[in-house]
Amino acid sequence: MRSSGLIRLALLAPAVTAIALGCVIGFESASYGAAIVGETRQTEVEAKAAAALQAMKAEYRRPASIPFPKDNPYTPQKVSLGKKLYFDTRLSLTSAQSCASCHNPGLGWGDGLTVGVGHGMAKLGRHSPTIVNLAWGAAFMWDGRSPSLEEQALEAIQLPAVMNIKMEPLLERLSSVLEYKPLFAAAFPDEGMTGATIGKAIATYERTVVSERAPFDAWIEGDEKAISEEAKRGFALFNTKGQCSSCHEGWNFTNDGFHDIGLAHEHPGRGKFLPDIPKMKHAYKTPGLRELTKRSPYMHNGSIATLEQVIEHYDGGGIDRPSRSDLMKPLGLTPLASLTIVIVAGLSAGALAANLSITQKGRLFSSESVTIKKGDSITFVNDDTVPHNIVSTSKGNEFNLGSQPPGASTDVTFKEPGDAQIICAIHPRMKMTVTITD
Ligand code: HEC
Ligand code: HEC
Repeated sequence: MRSSGLIRLALLAPAVTAIALGCVIGFESASYGAAIVGETRQTEVEAKAAAALQAMKAEYRRPASIPFPKDNPYTPQKVSLGKKLYFDTRLSLTSAQSCASCHNPGLGWGDGLTVGVGHGMAKLGRHSPTIVNLAWGAAFMWDGRSPSLEEQALEAIQLPAVMNIKMEPLLERLSSVLEYKPLFAAAFPDEGMTGATIGKAIATYERTVVSERAPFDAWIEGDEKAISEEAKRGFALFNTKGQCSSCHEGWNFTNDGFHDIGLAHEHPGRGKFLPDIPKMKHAYKTPGLRELTKRSPYMHNGSIATLEQVIEHYDGGGIDRPSRSDLMKPLGLTPLASLTIVIVAGLSAGALAANLSITQKGRLFSSESVTIKKGDSITFVNDDTVPHNIVSTSKGNEFNLGSQPPGASTDVTFKEPGDAQIICAIHPRMKMTVTITD
Protein backbone atom coordinates (compact mmCIF):
# COMPACT_ATOMS: atom_id res chain seq x y z
CA MET A 1 0.00 0.00 0.00
CA ARG A 2 2.76 2.37 1.01
CA SER A 3 4.65 2.07 -2.26
CA SER A 4 1.53 2.63 -4.35
CA GLY A 5 0.85 5.81 -2.39
CA LEU A 6 4.34 6.99 -3.24
CA ILE A 7 3.84 6.23 -6.91
CA ARG A 8 0.64 8.22 -6.96
CA LEU A 9 2.40 11.17 -5.39
CA ALA A 10 5.14 10.99 -7.97
CA LEU A 11 2.52 10.93 -10.72
CA LEU A 12 0.73 13.95 -9.29
CA ALA A 13 3.86 16.06 -9.19
CA PRO A 14 3.94 16.97 -12.90
CA ALA A 15 0.26 17.94 -12.72
CA VAL A 16 0.96 20.46 -10.04
CA THR A 17 3.90 21.84 -12.03
CA ALA A 18 1.81 22.06 -15.15
CA ILE A 19 -0.94 24.07 -13.50
CA ALA A 20 1.62 26.42 -11.99
CA LEU A 21 3.35 26.87 -15.34
CA GLY A 22 0.02 27.42 -17.07
CA CYS A 23 -0.83 30.30 -14.79
CA VAL A 24 2.43 32.04 -15.24
CA ILE A 25 3.44 31.47 -18.84
CA GLY A 26 0.13 31.17 -20.65
CA PHE A 27 -1.83 28.84 -22.87
CA GLU A 28 0.86 27.21 -25.00
CA SER A 29 2.91 25.97 -22.11
CA ALA A 30 -0.21 24.97 -20.25
CA SER A 31 -1.29 22.66 -23.01
CA TYR A 32 2.22 21.23 -23.21
CA GLY A 33 2.13 20.59 -19.48
CA ALA A 34 -1.37 19.11 -19.71
CA ALA A 35 -0.21 16.67 -22.33
CA ILE A 36 2.38 15.26 -19.98
CA VAL A 37 -0.18 14.98 -17.23
CA GLY A 38 -2.57 13.26 -19.56
CA GLU A 39 0.02 10.64 -20.35
CA THR A 40 0.85 9.83 -16.75
CA ARG A 41 -2.83 9.61 -15.84
CA GLN A 42 -3.46 7.34 -18.68
CA THR A 43 -0.82 4.90 -17.47
CA GLU A 44 -2.48 4.74 -14.11
CA VAL A 45 -5.95 4.30 -15.53
CA GLU A 46 -4.69 1.63 -17.86
CA ALA A 47 -3.06 -0.24 -15.01
CA LYS A 48 -6.26 0.00 -13.00
CA ALA A 49 -8.34 -1.08 -15.98
CA ALA A 50 -6.03 -4.05 -16.55
CA ALA A 51 -6.37 -5.12 -12.92
CA ALA A 52 -10.14 -4.66 -13.08
CA LEU A 53 -10.27 -6.70 -16.27
CA GLN A 54 -8.29 -9.52 -14.65
CA ALA A 55 -10.68 -9.51 -11.70
CA MET A 56 -13.66 -9.55 -14.05
CA LYS A 57 -12.20 -12.40 -16.05
CA ALA A 58 -11.57 -14.46 -12.92
CA GLU A 59 -15.34 -14.46 -12.29
CA TYR A 60 -15.89 -16.37 -15.54
CA ARG A 61 -13.48 -19.25 -15.04
CA ARG A 62 -14.92 -22.68 -15.84
CA PRO A 63 -15.31 -24.97 -12.83
CA ALA A 64 -13.05 -28.01 -12.78
CA SER A 65 -15.74 -30.58 -12.03
CA ILE A 66 -19.49 -31.14 -12.21
CA PRO A 67 -21.38 -30.97 -8.90
CA PHE A 68 -23.67 -33.93 -8.13
CA PRO A 69 -26.03 -33.95 -5.14
CA LYS A 70 -25.26 -36.14 -2.12
CA ASP A 71 -28.55 -38.03 -2.42
CA ASN A 72 -27.92 -38.87 -6.09
CA PRO A 73 -24.18 -39.18 -6.68
CA TYR A 74 -22.64 -39.78 -10.09
CA THR A 75 -22.12 -43.28 -11.40
CA PRO A 76 -21.43 -44.14 -15.04
CA GLN A 77 -24.19 -46.76 -14.84
CA LYS A 78 -26.76 -44.11 -13.98
CA VAL A 79 -25.56 -41.98 -16.88
CA SER A 80 -25.96 -44.83 -19.41
CA LEU A 81 -29.44 -45.60 -18.13
CA GLY A 82 -30.41 -41.92 -17.95
CA LYS A 83 -29.21 -41.30 -21.48
CA LYS A 84 -31.31 -44.14 -22.83
CA LEU A 85 -34.37 -42.89 -20.97
CA TYR A 86 -33.79 -39.31 -22.12
CA PHE A 87 -33.92 -40.31 -25.78
CA ASP A 88 -36.70 -42.90 -25.43
CA THR A 89 -40.12 -41.96 -26.85
CA ARG A 90 -41.72 -44.73 -24.77
CA LEU A 91 -41.66 -42.20 -21.92
CA SER A 92 -44.67 -40.46 -23.50
CA LEU A 93 -48.17 -41.89 -23.68
CA THR A 94 -48.40 -41.85 -27.44
CA SER A 95 -44.70 -42.70 -27.92
CA ALA A 96 -44.48 -39.48 -29.89
CA GLN A 97 -41.99 -37.64 -27.67
CA SER A 98 -38.83 -38.14 -25.72
CA CYS A 99 -37.17 -35.48 -23.61
CA ALA A 100 -34.95 -34.85 -26.63
CA SER A 101 -37.94 -33.86 -28.80
CA CYS A 102 -38.02 -30.56 -26.92
CA HIS A 103 -34.46 -30.51 -25.56
CA ASN A 104 -32.60 -31.56 -28.69
CA PRO A 105 -28.77 -31.67 -28.69
CA GLY A 106 -28.76 -30.42 -32.29
CA LEU A 107 -30.68 -27.30 -31.28
CA GLY A 108 -28.56 -26.27 -28.30
CA TRP A 109 -30.67 -28.72 -26.20
CA GLY A 110 -33.80 -26.63 -26.91
CA ASP A 111 -36.28 -27.13 -29.75
CA GLY A 112 -36.00 -24.04 -31.93
CA LEU A 113 -39.74 -23.33 -31.54
CA THR A 114 -41.47 -20.31 -30.01
CA VAL A 115 -43.23 -22.52 -27.46
CA GLY A 116 -42.97 -26.26 -26.86
CA VAL A 117 -45.37 -28.61 -28.63
CA GLY A 118 -46.61 -31.29 -26.25
CA HIS A 119 -49.08 -34.14 -26.07
CA GLY A 120 -51.44 -34.28 -29.06
CA MET A 121 -49.37 -31.58 -30.82
CA ALA A 122 -50.88 -28.94 -28.50
CA LYS A 123 -48.82 -25.83 -27.87
CA LEU A 124 -47.45 -25.35 -24.35
CA GLY A 125 -47.49 -22.03 -22.55
CA ARG A 126 -43.73 -21.53 -22.60
CA HIS A 127 -40.60 -21.83 -24.65
CA SER A 128 -38.53 -25.01 -24.14
CA PRO A 129 -35.36 -23.93 -22.35
CA THR A 130 -31.97 -25.54 -22.85
CA ILE A 131 -30.90 -28.18 -20.34
CA VAL A 132 -27.20 -27.32 -20.73
CA ASN A 133 -25.21 -26.75 -17.50
CA LEU A 134 -28.17 -27.40 -15.20
CA ALA A 135 -25.92 -29.34 -12.82
CA TRP A 136 -25.16 -25.85 -11.47
CA GLY A 137 -28.84 -24.78 -11.43
CA ALA A 138 -30.58 -23.69 -8.24
CA ALA A 139 -34.27 -23.87 -9.23
CA PHE A 140 -35.83 -25.20 -12.40
CA MET A 141 -38.48 -24.10 -14.88
CA TRP A 142 -38.84 -20.51 -16.06
CA ASP A 143 -40.71 -19.69 -12.83
CA GLY A 144 -38.40 -21.80 -10.65
CA ARG A 145 -41.22 -24.03 -9.41
CA SER A 146 -39.23 -27.26 -9.58
CA PRO A 147 -36.61 -27.77 -6.84
CA SER A 148 -34.51 -30.50 -8.49
CA LEU A 149 -33.80 -32.12 -11.82
CA GLU A 150 -35.04 -35.40 -10.39
CA GLU A 151 -38.49 -33.94 -9.66
CA GLN A 152 -38.55 -31.97 -12.87
CA ALA A 153 -38.04 -35.09 -15.01
CA LEU A 154 -40.93 -36.89 -13.31
CA GLU A 155 -43.12 -33.84 -13.77
CA ALA A 156 -42.38 -33.65 -17.52
CA ILE A 157 -43.22 -37.34 -17.95
CA GLN A 158 -46.51 -37.16 -16.08
CA LEU A 159 -47.86 -33.73 -17.02
CA PRO A 160 -50.91 -34.24 -19.27
CA ALA A 161 -49.78 -31.41 -21.56
CA VAL A 162 -46.23 -32.72 -21.97
CA MET A 163 -45.66 -36.51 -22.07
CA ASN A 164 -48.90 -37.47 -20.35
CA ILE A 165 -48.07 -40.88 -18.94
CA LYS A 166 -48.73 -41.90 -15.33
CA MET A 167 -46.04 -43.74 -13.42
CA GLU A 168 -47.86 -47.10 -13.15
CA PRO A 169 -48.36 -47.63 -16.88
CA LEU A 170 -44.87 -46.30 -17.56
CA LEU A 171 -43.25 -48.81 -15.19
CA GLU A 172 -45.31 -51.56 -16.77
CA ARG A 173 -44.25 -50.49 -20.21
CA LEU A 174 -40.53 -50.23 -19.38
CA SER A 175 -40.58 -53.61 -17.57
CA SER A 176 -41.50 -55.24 -20.84
CA VAL A 177 -38.44 -53.73 -22.57
CA LEU A 178 -35.69 -56.33 -22.13
CA GLU A 179 -32.72 -53.93 -22.31
CA TYR A 180 -33.87 -51.89 -19.34
CA LYS A 181 -33.70 -54.71 -16.78
CA PRO A 182 -29.89 -55.03 -16.65
CA LEU A 183 -29.45 -51.26 -16.92
CA PHE A 184 -31.60 -50.59 -13.84
CA ALA A 185 -29.95 -53.49 -11.98
CA ALA A 186 -26.51 -52.02 -12.65
CA ALA A 187 -27.46 -48.43 -11.80
CA PHE A 188 -29.71 -49.14 -8.82
CA PRO A 189 -28.87 -52.61 -7.46
CA ASP A 190 -30.94 -52.09 -4.30
CA GLU A 191 -33.89 -50.19 -5.69
CA GLY A 192 -34.42 -51.50 -9.22
CA MET A 193 -36.90 -49.77 -11.48
CA THR A 194 -39.15 -47.25 -9.71
CA GLY A 195 -40.42 -43.76 -10.43
CA ALA A 196 -37.69 -42.38 -8.19
CA THR A 197 -34.88 -44.23 -9.98
CA ILE A 198 -36.15 -43.10 -13.38
CA GLY A 199 -35.95 -39.51 -12.12
CA LYS A 200 -32.49 -40.05 -10.62
CA ALA A 201 -31.07 -41.63 -13.76
CA ILE A 202 -32.38 -38.92 -16.10
CA ALA A 203 -31.17 -36.17 -13.75
CA THR A 204 -27.69 -37.72 -13.57
CA TYR A 205 -27.48 -37.84 -17.36
CA GLU A 206 -28.67 -34.22 -17.60
CA ARG A 207 -25.94 -33.11 -15.19
CA THR A 208 -23.34 -34.49 -17.59
CA VAL A 209 -24.62 -32.20 -20.36
CA VAL A 210 -22.06 -29.41 -20.02
CA SER A 211 -21.30 -26.89 -22.73
CA GLU A 212 -18.13 -27.46 -24.71
CA ARG A 213 -15.04 -25.42 -24.01
CA ALA A 214 -15.38 -22.28 -26.09
CA PRO A 215 -12.67 -19.90 -27.37
CA PHE A 216 -14.00 -17.60 -24.66
CA ASP A 217 -12.81 -20.09 -22.01
CA ALA A 218 -9.34 -20.19 -23.53
CA TRP A 219 -9.23 -16.40 -23.35
CA ILE A 220 -10.39 -16.38 -19.73
CA GLU A 221 -7.59 -18.81 -18.96
CA GLY A 222 -5.00 -16.52 -20.51
CA ASP A 223 -4.78 -17.14 -24.27
CA GLU A 224 -4.99 -13.56 -25.54
CA LYS A 225 -5.43 -14.66 -29.13
CA ALA A 226 -8.38 -16.98 -28.53
CA ILE A 227 -11.00 -14.31 -29.23
CA SER A 228 -11.07 -11.18 -31.39
CA GLU A 229 -10.45 -7.66 -30.15
CA GLU A 230 -14.07 -6.84 -30.90
CA ALA A 231 -15.23 -9.69 -28.69
CA LYS A 232 -12.99 -8.37 -25.89
CA ARG A 233 -14.64 -4.98 -26.19
CA GLY A 234 -17.98 -6.76 -26.08
CA PHE A 235 -16.95 -8.52 -22.87
CA ALA A 236 -16.05 -5.18 -21.28
CA LEU A 237 -19.42 -3.72 -22.29
CA PHE A 238 -21.20 -6.81 -21.04
CA ASN A 239 -19.68 -6.13 -17.62
CA THR A 240 -19.98 -2.35 -17.56
CA LYS A 241 -22.34 -0.16 -19.58
CA GLY A 242 -24.49 -3.08 -20.73
CA GLN A 243 -24.97 -4.23 -17.09
CA CYS A 244 -25.61 -7.71 -18.40
CA SER A 245 -23.34 -9.29 -15.80
CA SER A 246 -25.54 -7.98 -12.99
CA CYS A 247 -27.81 -10.91 -13.83
CA HIS A 248 -25.86 -13.06 -16.31
CA GLU A 249 -22.91 -13.74 -14.05
CA GLY A 250 -20.24 -16.40 -13.75
CA TRP A 251 -19.04 -19.04 -16.18
CA ASN A 252 -22.61 -20.07 -17.12
CA PHE A 253 -23.79 -16.45 -17.29
CA THR A 254 -26.67 -16.68 -14.82
CA ASN A 255 -27.44 -15.68 -11.24
CA ASP A 256 -30.38 -18.16 -11.16
CA GLY A 257 -32.48 -15.21 -9.99
CA PHE A 258 -35.89 -13.99 -11.19
CA HIS A 259 -36.34 -10.65 -12.91
CA ASP A 260 -38.91 -8.79 -14.95
CA ILE A 261 -36.93 -7.49 -17.90
CA GLY A 262 -39.89 -5.57 -19.31
CA LEU A 263 -41.04 -7.97 -22.03
CA ALA A 264 -44.61 -7.45 -23.27
CA HIS A 265 -46.70 -10.14 -21.55
CA GLU A 266 -49.29 -10.42 -18.78
CA HIS A 267 -48.15 -13.60 -17.05
CA PRO A 268 -47.41 -13.56 -13.31
CA GLY A 269 -44.12 -15.50 -13.62
CA ARG A 270 -42.40 -16.02 -10.28
CA GLY A 271 -45.07 -13.76 -8.77
CA LYS A 272 -47.47 -16.69 -8.82
CA PHE A 273 -45.54 -18.12 -5.84
CA LEU A 274 -44.52 -14.82 -4.27
CA PRO A 275 -47.58 -12.59 -4.77
CA ASP A 276 -46.55 -10.14 -2.04
CA ILE A 277 -43.25 -9.20 -3.66
CA PRO A 278 -43.99 -6.65 -6.40
CA LYS A 279 -40.69 -7.26 -8.22
CA MET A 280 -41.55 -10.92 -8.76
CA LYS A 281 -44.54 -10.10 -10.95
CA HIS A 282 -43.74 -10.91 -14.61
CA ALA A 283 -40.33 -12.17 -13.41
CA TYR A 284 -38.69 -15.25 -14.94
CA LYS A 285 -35.45 -17.10 -14.29
CA THR A 286 -32.28 -15.64 -15.78
CA PRO A 287 -31.19 -18.16 -18.41
CA GLY A 288 -27.53 -19.07 -18.84
CA LEU A 289 -26.04 -17.77 -22.09
CA ARG A 290 -24.01 -20.78 -23.18
CA GLU A 291 -24.87 -22.62 -26.45
CA LEU A 292 -26.99 -19.60 -27.21
CA THR A 293 -26.67 -19.31 -30.95
CA LYS A 294 -28.18 -22.71 -31.68
CA ARG A 295 -31.35 -22.27 -29.69
CA SER A 296 -33.22 -19.20 -30.90
CA PRO A 297 -35.90 -17.93 -30.41
CA TYR A 298 -35.25 -16.50 -26.96
CA MET A 299 -37.05 -15.71 -23.66
CA HIS A 300 -39.64 -17.65 -21.63
CA ASN A 301 -42.22 -17.04 -24.34
CA GLY A 302 -39.90 -17.35 -27.34
CA SER A 303 -40.87 -13.81 -28.25
CA ILE A 304 -37.49 -12.60 -29.53
CA ALA A 305 -36.11 -14.21 -32.67
CA THR A 306 -32.50 -13.02 -32.88
CA LEU A 307 -29.67 -11.95 -30.59
CA GLU A 308 -29.60 -8.56 -32.29
CA GLN A 309 -33.23 -8.06 -31.26
CA VAL A 310 -32.42 -9.17 -27.72
CA ILE A 311 -29.80 -6.42 -27.54
CA GLU A 312 -32.28 -3.92 -28.99
CA HIS A 313 -34.70 -4.88 -26.23
CA TYR A 314 -32.10 -4.25 -23.52
CA ASP A 315 -30.99 -1.05 -25.21
CA GLY A 316 -34.57 0.27 -25.04
CA GLY A 317 -35.07 -0.93 -21.46
CA GLY A 318 -38.37 -2.72 -22.06
CA ILE A 319 -41.77 -1.83 -20.61
CA ASP A 320 -41.58 0.50 -17.63
CA ARG A 321 -43.78 -0.96 -14.88
CA PRO A 322 -43.43 -1.35 -11.09
CA SER A 323 -42.21 -4.94 -11.36
CA ARG A 324 -39.48 -4.14 -13.90
CA SER A 325 -35.95 -4.65 -12.59
CA ASP A 326 -34.29 -1.40 -11.56
CA LEU A 327 -31.40 -2.38 -13.81
CA MET A 328 -33.62 -2.16 -16.88
CA LYS A 329 -33.52 1.30 -18.45
CA PRO A 330 -32.49 2.75 -21.79
CA LEU A 331 -28.76 2.09 -22.14
CA GLY A 332 -27.79 4.13 -25.19
CA LEU A 333 -25.63 1.44 -26.71
CA THR A 334 -24.39 2.33 -30.19
CA PRO A 335 -25.05 -0.21 -32.95
CA LEU A 336 -21.42 -1.33 -32.79
CA ALA A 337 -21.60 -1.75 -29.05
CA SER A 338 -24.74 -3.78 -29.47
CA LEU A 339 -23.03 -5.99 -31.96
CA THR A 340 -20.06 -6.64 -29.73
CA ILE A 341 -22.23 -7.69 -26.83
CA VAL A 342 -23.84 -10.17 -29.16
CA ILE A 343 -20.45 -11.48 -30.14
CA VAL A 344 -19.46 -12.11 -26.55
CA ALA A 345 -22.73 -13.87 -25.88
CA GLY A 346 -22.07 -16.01 -28.92
CA LEU A 347 -18.51 -16.74 -27.99
CA SER A 348 -19.53 -17.92 -24.61
CA ALA A 349 -21.57 -20.54 -26.39
CA GLY A 350 -18.67 -22.12 -28.19
CA ALA A 351 -20.84 -22.03 -31.27
CA LEU A 352 -18.74 -19.45 -33.06
CA ALA A 353 -15.46 -20.81 -34.33
CA ALA A 354 -12.28 -19.38 -32.85
CA ASN A 355 -10.68 -16.69 -34.91
CA LEU A 356 -7.62 -17.95 -36.66
CA SER A 357 -4.60 -15.78 -35.94
CA ILE A 358 -1.96 -15.06 -38.56
CA THR A 359 1.05 -13.24 -37.21
CA GLN A 360 3.58 -11.29 -39.20
CA LYS A 361 7.10 -11.71 -37.93
CA GLY A 362 10.53 -11.47 -39.53
CA ARG A 363 8.76 -10.16 -42.64
CA LEU A 364 6.87 -13.41 -43.07
CA PHE A 365 3.33 -14.58 -42.44
CA SER A 366 3.11 -17.31 -39.80
CA SER A 367 1.49 -19.53 -42.42
CA GLU A 368 1.68 -19.57 -46.22
CA SER A 369 -1.71 -21.10 -46.75
CA VAL A 370 -4.75 -21.66 -44.57
CA THR A 371 -8.24 -22.97 -45.24
CA ILE A 372 -11.29 -21.49 -43.54
CA LYS A 373 -15.05 -21.56 -44.00
CA LYS A 374 -17.01 -18.80 -45.74
CA GLY A 375 -17.93 -16.17 -43.12
CA ASP A 376 -15.01 -17.04 -40.81
CA SER A 377 -12.49 -14.43 -39.72
CA ILE A 378 -8.74 -14.27 -39.50
CA THR A 379 -6.99 -11.97 -37.05
CA PHE A 380 -3.90 -10.42 -38.64
CA VAL A 381 -1.43 -9.55 -35.91
CA ASN A 382 1.70 -7.51 -36.58
CA ASP A 383 4.21 -9.13 -34.25
CA ASP A 384 7.10 -7.58 -36.18
CA THR A 385 9.37 -4.63 -35.55
CA VAL A 386 8.29 -2.81 -38.72
CA PRO A 387 4.89 -1.66 -40.06
CA HIS A 388 3.08 -3.87 -42.58
CA ASN A 389 0.28 -3.16 -45.00
CA ILE A 390 -1.79 -6.28 -45.61
CA VAL A 391 -3.74 -6.26 -48.86
CA SER A 392 -5.90 -8.62 -50.87
CA THR A 393 -7.09 -7.83 -54.38
CA SER A 394 -8.81 -11.19 -54.86
CA LYS A 395 -12.35 -10.72 -56.12
CA GLY A 396 -15.04 -10.77 -53.43
CA ASN A 397 -12.43 -10.74 -50.67
CA GLU A 398 -10.70 -7.41 -51.36
CA PHE A 399 -9.35 -5.50 -48.39
CA ASN A 400 -6.52 -3.15 -47.49
CA LEU A 401 -5.61 -2.83 -43.82
CA GLY A 402 -3.46 0.27 -44.41
CA SER A 403 -0.29 0.74 -42.40
CA GLN A 404 -0.41 -1.58 -39.38
CA PRO A 405 2.20 -0.57 -36.79
CA PRO A 406 3.94 -3.26 -34.71
CA GLY A 407 1.49 -4.62 -32.14
CA ALA A 408 -1.62 -3.83 -34.21
CA SER A 409 -4.18 -6.52 -34.92
CA THR A 410 -7.18 -6.48 -37.23
CA ASP A 411 -9.92 -9.03 -37.88
CA VAL A 412 -10.88 -9.77 -41.48
CA THR A 413 -13.97 -11.76 -42.39
CA PHE A 414 -13.84 -13.64 -45.68
CA LYS A 415 -17.10 -13.72 -47.59
CA GLU A 416 -16.50 -15.30 -50.98
CA PRO A 417 -15.54 -18.97 -51.51
CA GLY A 418 -12.30 -19.40 -53.47
CA ASP A 419 -8.63 -18.46 -53.02
CA ALA A 420 -7.65 -15.04 -51.67
CA GLN A 421 -4.04 -14.00 -52.29
CA ILE A 422 -2.73 -11.87 -49.42
CA ILE A 423 0.44 -9.78 -49.58
CA CYS A 424 2.14 -7.01 -47.67
CA ALA A 425 2.26 -3.96 -49.93
CA ILE A 426 5.43 -2.79 -48.19
CA HIS A 427 7.24 -6.16 -48.27
CA PRO A 428 6.00 -7.92 -51.43
CA ARG A 429 7.83 -11.14 -50.61
CA MET A 430 5.34 -11.66 -47.80
CA LYS A 431 2.61 -13.77 -49.40
CA MET A 432 -0.05 -16.16 -48.28
CA THR A 433 -3.14 -17.84 -49.68
CA VAL A 434 -6.43 -18.11 -47.77
CA THR A 435 -8.69 -20.80 -49.22
CA ILE A 436 -12.32 -20.10 -48.37
CA THR A 437 -14.65 -23.10 -48.59
CA ASP A 438 -18.43 -22.86 -49.02
C1 HEC B 1 -43.19 -31.09 -25.33
C2 HEC B 1 -41.92 -30.51 -25.07
C3 HEC B 1 -41.17 -30.98 -23.86
C4 HEC B 1 -40.85 -32.28 -23.51
C5 HEC B 1 -41.25 -33.53 -24.19
C6 HEC B 1 -40.02 -32.17 -22.34
N1 HEC B 1 -39.84 -30.87 -22.00
FE1 HEC B 1 -38.63 -30.15 -20.59
N2 HEC B 1 -39.40 -28.32 -20.82
C7 HEC B 1 -40.28 -27.95 -21.81
C8 HEC B 1 -40.78 -26.61 -21.53
C9 HEC B 1 -41.78 -25.83 -22.36
C10 HEC B 1 -40.16 -26.21 -20.34
C11 HEC B 1 -40.38 -24.89 -19.58
C12 HEC B 1 -41.62 -25.09 -18.77
C13 HEC B 1 -41.91 -24.00 -17.76
O1 HEC B 1 -41.03 -23.22 -17.42
O2 HEC B 1 -43.06 -23.94 -17.31
C14 HEC B 1 -39.27 -27.29 -19.94
C15 HEC B 1 -38.40 -27.24 -18.84
C16 HEC B 1 -37.48 -28.21 -18.57
C17 HEC B 1 -36.42 -28.10 -17.61
C18 HEC B 1 -36.09 -26.86 -16.78
C19 HEC B 1 -34.93 -26.12 -17.37
C20 HEC B 1 -34.54 -24.91 -16.59
O3 HEC B 1 -33.62 -24.19 -17.01
O4 HEC B 1 -35.12 -24.63 -15.55
C21 HEC B 1 -35.74 -29.30 -17.60
C22 HEC B 1 -34.55 -29.66 -16.76
C23 HEC B 1 -36.40 -30.15 -18.55
N3 HEC B 1 -37.45 -29.46 -19.13
C24 HEC B 1 -36.07 -31.47 -18.77
C25 HEC B 1 -36.91 -32.35 -19.45
C26 HEC B 1 -36.78 -33.80 -19.38
C27 HEC B 1 -35.75 -34.54 -18.58
C28 HEC B 1 -37.76 -34.29 -20.18
C29 HEC B 1 -38.09 -35.75 -20.42
C30 HEC B 1 -38.42 -36.52 -19.26
C31 HEC B 1 -38.47 -33.16 -20.75
N4 HEC B 1 -37.95 -32.00 -20.25
C32 HEC B 1 -39.50 -33.26 -21.66
C33 HEC B 1 -40.67 -28.73 -22.86
C34 HEC B 1 -40.56 -30.11 -22.89
C1 HEC C 1 -32.19 -7.63 -14.48
C2 HEC C 1 -31.46 -8.83 -14.85
C3 HEC C 1 -30.94 -8.93 -16.28
C4 HEC C 1 -30.11 -8.06 -16.95
C5 HEC C 1 -29.52 -6.76 -16.47
C6 HEC C 1 -29.87 -8.67 -18.24
N1 HEC C 1 -30.57 -9.83 -18.35
FE1 HEC C 1 -30.67 -11.00 -19.97
N2 HEC C 1 -32.17 -12.08 -19.12
C7 HEC C 1 -32.64 -11.91 -17.85
C8 HEC C 1 -33.85 -12.69 -17.65
C9 HEC C 1 -34.68 -12.78 -16.38
C10 HEC C 1 -34.12 -13.30 -18.89
C11 HEC C 1 -35.35 -14.15 -19.24
C12 HEC C 1 -36.55 -13.22 -19.30
C13 HEC C 1 -37.84 -13.83 -19.73
O1 HEC C 1 -37.83 -14.80 -20.48
O2 HEC C 1 -38.89 -13.30 -19.33
C14 HEC C 1 -33.01 -12.92 -19.78
C15 HEC C 1 -32.84 -13.38 -21.07
C16 HEC C 1 -31.74 -13.10 -21.86
C17 HEC C 1 -31.46 -13.74 -23.12
C18 HEC C 1 -32.26 -14.86 -23.75
C19 HEC C 1 -31.68 -16.21 -23.38
C20 HEC C 1 -32.57 -17.37 -23.65
O3 HEC C 1 -32.11 -18.50 -23.48
O4 HEC C 1 -33.74 -17.18 -24.03
C21 HEC C 1 -30.30 -13.18 -23.60
C22 HEC C 1 -29.58 -13.54 -24.88
C23 HEC C 1 -29.89 -12.17 -22.65
N3 HEC C 1 -30.79 -12.15 -21.61
C24 HEC C 1 -28.77 -11.37 -22.79
C25 HEC C 1 -28.54 -10.26 -21.99
C26 HEC C 1 -27.61 -9.20 -22.32
C27 HEC C 1 -26.69 -9.18 -23.54
C28 HEC C 1 -27.71 -8.27 -21.34
C29 HEC C 1 -27.02 -6.94 -21.25
C30 HEC C 1 -27.31 -6.01 -22.32
C31 HEC C 1 -28.70 -8.76 -20.38
N4 HEC C 1 -29.19 -9.96 -20.82
C32 HEC C 1 -29.06 -8.10 -19.22
C33 HEC C 1 -32.07 -11.11 -16.88
C34 HEC C 1 -31.24 -10.03 -17.18
